[in-house]
This record gives sequence, C-alpha cells and structure tokens, in this order.
Amino acid sequence: MQRLITWILILCFVSPLCFCESLMRSTNTNSVIDNGATGDGKTDDSQAFLSAWQKTCSAKGASTLVIPSKVVFLLKKKIIFKGPCQATNINIQLQGNITVATQSAWLGDKSTIISITNVNGLTIDGSGGSIDGSGSSWWSCKTCPRPSVLSFNACNNLSVANLTIRNSPQAHITINGCVGATFSRITIVSPGDSPNTDGIDISSSKNILIKESNIATGDDCIAIIGDSSFINVTRISCGPGHGISIGSLGRDQVHDMVEQVYVHNCSFTKTTNGARIKTFQGGQGSARNITYEGITLTQVFNPIIINQNYMELMSEGGGVQVSGVTFRGFKGTSADDKAITLACGSQGCFNIVLDQVSITSSLPGKPTSCSCMNAHGTATSTVPNCASLLK
Ligand SMILES: *[C@@H]1O[C@H](CO)[C@@H](O)[C@H](O)[C@H]1NC(C)=O
Ligand SMILES: *[C@@H]1O[C@H](CO)[C@@H](O)[C@H](O)[C@H]1NC(C)=O
Ligand SMILES: *[C@@H]1O[C@H](CO)[C@@H](O)[C@H](O)[C@H]1NC(C)=O
Ligand SMILES: *[C@@H]1O[C@H](CO)[C@@H](O)[C@H](O)[C@H]1NC(C)=O
Ligand SMILES: *[C@@H]1O[C@H](CO)[C@@H](O)[C@H](O)[C@H]1NC(C)=O
Ligand SMILES: *[C@@H]1O[C@H](CO)[C@@H](O)[C@H](O)[C@H]1NC(C)=O
Repeated sequence: MQRLITWILILCFVSPLCFCESLMRSTNTNSVIDNGATGDGKTDDSQAFLSAWQKTCSAKGASTLVIPSKVVFLLKKKIIFKGPCQATNINIQLQGNITVATQSAWLGDKSTIISITNVNGLTIDGSGGSIDGSGSSWWSCKTCPRPSVLSFNACNNLSVANLTIRNSPQAHITINGCVGATFSRITIVSPGDSPNTDGIDISSSKNILIKESNIATGDDCIAIIGDSSFINVTRISCGPGHGISIGSLGRDQVHDMVEQVYVHNCSFTKTTNGARIKTFQGGQGSARNITYEGITLTQVFNPIIINQNYMELMSEGGGVQVSGVTFRGFKGTSADDKAITLACGSQGCFNIVLDQVSITSSLPGKPTSCSCMNAHGTATSTVPNCASLLK
C-alpha cells in the first residue's frame, strides 16, 4: 500500500496534468449503481439517485454523476438535485434510461419529476440515455395536476447536450431563474394530441441559447414566458406542436417582460402555429425586440401570429405592449388560407417588420391572407400582401 502511494506520488510529480487529473476525476465519480440503484426498471431508484447526488455535490473540485448504460432506472418519487455544491464543474452523464412511474404508481408531488436547483456550472451529457415520462398514463385527465419531467431552477452557466425526453406528463423541460444556459441536440418526442406537453419553457431567465434540436409535442415546442431576455433559438425543427411562442404574457397581474429574443433558422412542420406572440387581454407587461428570421414552414396553420386576445382577463390593465417585432425570411406553406395574423389590442402594436415573407397555401389554388388589427409597421417583399398594416 505504502509503495503504491509512493508510486502514485511519483507519477503525479512526473505527469501532473494527465495522471493526477484522471485520478482525481475517477475518485469524484459517483455512479447511481454504487449508491444502491438496481436498474431493473421495477424497483424505485430515486433514493440511490439522491445519495449519488449528495456525494457528487459535496465533492471537492470537478465531480461526475453517472447514470450507467444498458439498464432502466425507475423513479417513483420526485428527486431534487439541490445546490449550492462544494464541487465546481459538476457533470451528469445520462447513459442509461430513466422511466417514470405511471400515474397510479407515482408517489411524489405533482410539480416535477427531476428538479435541479441552485447548481452553478453544471453540464449534462445525455448521450446514449433517455428519460421516458410515462405521460400516456397521465394525459387522460387534462385538468389533474401533472408533473414536468426536468426543471432547472436558479442554475447559472448550465450546459445540456444530447438529451432525449419522451412522453412528459406536462412540460418536458422548464428553465426558471437561470442566467447563462446552452441546450443543444435536445430531442423531445410526445404525440401531437398530448395535453400541455410544452417542449421547453423559459421563464425569468437570461442569456439562454437553444440550438440544433428536434421537438415534436402536443403544445408549444418552446415557450418564452415572463421576465426573460437575451434568448436565442436556432436550428430547431418543431412539429407536431404549437410553435415557438412568446407568452402567454400578462396572466397574473404581474408585469411580464420579454425582450431581445432571436429565433433563427428554424423549421415548422404541420404545427398549429409558427412564430407566435400571445398575451392576455388586459394584462400588463411588454414584449419587445423580438426577431424571427430564416423560417421554413410546411403546412402550418398560423405561420405568423400575434394574438393579444389570447384570453380575456377580468381586470382592466392597459394591455401588454408589443413593439419591435421582426419577421424576416419566412418561406413555405400554411395549412389553409391564414398566413399572417396580427391581432393587437386597442393599445396597438408598433414597429412590426415583415420582410421577405413568402407564404402560400398548401391547398391547391387557394390564396393566403394577411389580417391585421391595430398593428403598426412595415411590410416589404411580403406575400400575402398586408394592406391592413397601419403606418
Ligand atoms: C433505452 O431507450 C431506448 C429508446 O429511447 C431503447 O432503444 C433502448 O433499448 C433502451 N435501453 C434499455 C436498456 O432498455
Ligand atoms: C459563469 O462562468 C463564468 C466563467 O466560468 C463566470 O465568470 C461567471 O461569473 C459565471 N456566471 C454566473 C452567472 O454564475
Ligand atoms: C453530442 O453528440 C455528438 C454526436 O454523437 C457528439 O459529437 C458531441 O460531442 C456530443 N456532445 C456532448 C456535449 O456530449
Ligand atoms: C444571441 O445572438 C446574438 C446575435 O447573434 C449574440 O450576440 C448573442 O451573444 C447570442 N446570445 C447567446 C446567449 O447565445
Ligand atoms: C442560417 O441559415 C443561413 C442560410 O442557410 C446560413 O447562411 C446561416 O449560416 C445559418 N445560421 C445558423 C446560425 O445556422
Ligand atoms: C434589438 O437587439 C439588438 C441586439 O440584440 C440590438 O442590436 C438592437 O439595437 C435592438 N433593437 C431595439 C429596438 O432595441
């Protein structure tokens, strides 16, 4: 033993970078299997996940949590990966499959299945693994509380890649109160008729990048909700689903603000909406400096839509202010005649720019239409023609 330690010390001395780093890394690797998970797909492994997390979070230096391949882990209870952590640079490797208990076997609360809270500098690599939310056992009751699969709360400098999530009871991923996050190569798959199964919901967050992902679901592919800014979304293919939406804003008497959103090089296939901004009538807040650019459409029901009458609120706010919204470089087909709908509230929307938009109907011989109400802005090189757009 003594000799081994001496050798290790000598090796460290000779080759400090490669050898010691790998040694330290391996000591800070925690597999859920080593912490009691069975991976038989039948036994609840949630406690083992939590034990492995505790060790990962409290380690010194870089630290890795491994969910190994070739097995299926069952979760019957909500798990919270909670920080702040002593470890810097935590990495979660999801190599195996996680399946969530069906609705009747679920023992946790119904907010979320995996909650990651207050962890900075986290990276998640989902290569080889997947999470199945067993949503079909929950969807039949549309009004019952249903959990989202994965939620990030107050996680700064987050990076998630190569992650697959299927069949969430409700939203697949929620991002709340995070500053600095990149999501890439995310695959989300749920049926087009599954209720409220948003792909990715972003709220109260800043500097978020979502790229190179495929999202097929029953509600918004991506929804950007209150108090979010500097959100980039690129190379996403959405469909089925309800599009990439700003809002709904102004629901709960809070001053919702969304700004500096850039959605580019995305495609929508057979979705109910493409680029959408929806606000509650009489709500408060603003949506400004929003750009959708380089968008490909295939049989989309509402390719471009601003809807300020999403639902009527009882109260009489001034209405959410919508301004500085650009739709540039849209190409493709709508599912019927509607191509552009700008239904603004009585307060009006301003600085709406339509540029290089070409949307035809997928129904042979049917023209497409543009309908505007209280919308101010300019349309250049845009088909259909938007004569009702105000200066
Ligand atoms: C994990 O899930 C994928 C589908 O997402 C499946 O192809 C694979 O066989 C599953 N692995 C195991 C060990 O069940
Ligand atoms: C993110 O990380 C960078 C450098 O790694 C650091 O400077 C910055 O403060 C971090 N941001 C947050 C919000 O934690
Ligand atoms: C994601 O998967 C791709 C393709 O397999 C791979 O090239 C890339 O390194 C992976 N990214 C991460 C962060 O694991
Ligand atoms: C978003 O895109 C803008 C313009 O291309 C860029 O300046 C900014 O750094 C991007 N932000 C993120 C979080 O990727
Ligand atoms: C977006 O698409 C255009 C045209 O195909 C291309 O030139 C540009 O590099 C793309 N940008 C990104 C970020 O994919
Ligand atoms: C919108 O944001 C971009 C950068 O994200 C900036 O260059 C531009 O000035 C902003 N426009 C308005 C009207 O705020």
